[in-house]
Amino acid sequence: MPLGPTTTFIPSTDVDWDFGGQVVLITGAAHGQGAVHAETFAEKGADVVVSDLAGEVDYVTYPLGTAAELEATAEKVRDLGRRCISAVCDVRRPNEVKGLVERTIEEFGHLDIVISNAGIGGRKPVVDMPAAQWVATIDTNLSAAFYLCKYAGPHMIEAGYGRILATGSTQSVGGTNEVSAYTSAKHGLVGLVEGFAREFADHGVTINLVCPTAVDTPMNKSFVDPTTADWIAEATRLVGSWNLLLAEGMMHEREVSEAMMWLASRAAGHISGATLMLDGGCTAK
Ligand SMILES: NC(=O)c1ccc[n+]([C@@H]2O[C@H](COP(=O)([O-])OP(=O)(O)OC[C@H]3O[C@@H](n4cnc5c(N)ncnc54)[C@H](O)[C@@H]3O)[C@@H](O)[C@H]2O)c1
Repeated sequence: MPLGPTTTFIPSTDVDWDFGGQVVLITGAAHGQGAVHAETFAEKGADVVVSDLAGEVDYVTYPLGTAAELEATAEKVRDLGRRCISAVCDVRRPNEVKGLVERTIEEFGHLDIVISNAGIGGRKPVVDMPAAQWVATIDTNLSAAFYLCKYAGPHMIEAGYGRILATGSTQSVGGTNEVSAYTSAKHGLVGLVEGFAREFADHGVTINLVCPTAVDTPMNKSFVDPTTADWIAEATRLVGSWNLLLAEGMMHEREVSEAMMWLASRAAGHISGATLMLDGGCTAK
């Protein structure tokens, strides 16, 4: 049987992931990748905590998630027969992250998987960037992962089991013009998972970084208009070598979820501190 182009995405209906009885907490779950992670983990049996800022951030020029979208994500999880906590949480604020973790433990009793997914992007030359834009970008994309580890870590350590996943980018290993704050934060995550993996290793807790290339979400639509015929050329002009092998378009969100599921599964028990590139080879050297 012809298998078709190698980049055609086919969901893994034949992989029997089983997250039954586990609880996964996902930030930035109102729309985009986080919403698809929530649905995908729920399909495979997990109870899910979905959270989002559900508001606006200065300097972000594309639509972030809304309260209605967050509720829609929660409804999808519940429609699959799973329990769901839906909560507004600004990941830049440690006390809000602490509260979210505490509520999870109170209501569900345990927390097995954390996906630090919330992120913001934005283009601005270094010399024109307001300091507050730098801080917001670093806090959302990097510091939030620390807060999640700080507050979820003790519960996982006590349980002797945990899976922490952070969301990097091709910008975790390369640089490009006018997205330097984002690039700096995503590079920081490489160090964060390597450093934290060592501290968590003795306690059965793994932490890994998943780095997608361009995914078909609202964030990316701020960079290029994917409905135009030459969007790949435009994206390439903007950010270098995006999608070297993915000539057909952006990644599907669920491709990222699939990688997350593998790293969150018991099958990946010996993988920690790793940076997994989901980039169509575009950062290959
Ligand atoms: N879209 C891409 O091409 C791409 C590529 C590589 C990596 N990423 C990363 O993937 C992750 C998900 O991005 P996406 O593509 O789904 O983008 P998105 O903009 O569609 O979704 C991001 C979500 O995070 C939420 N969020 C933003 N700031 C927040 C805050 N302070 N607290 C809580 N939630 C907040 C938003 O409301 C939104 O719902 C991000 O970390 C992003 O950097 C995206």
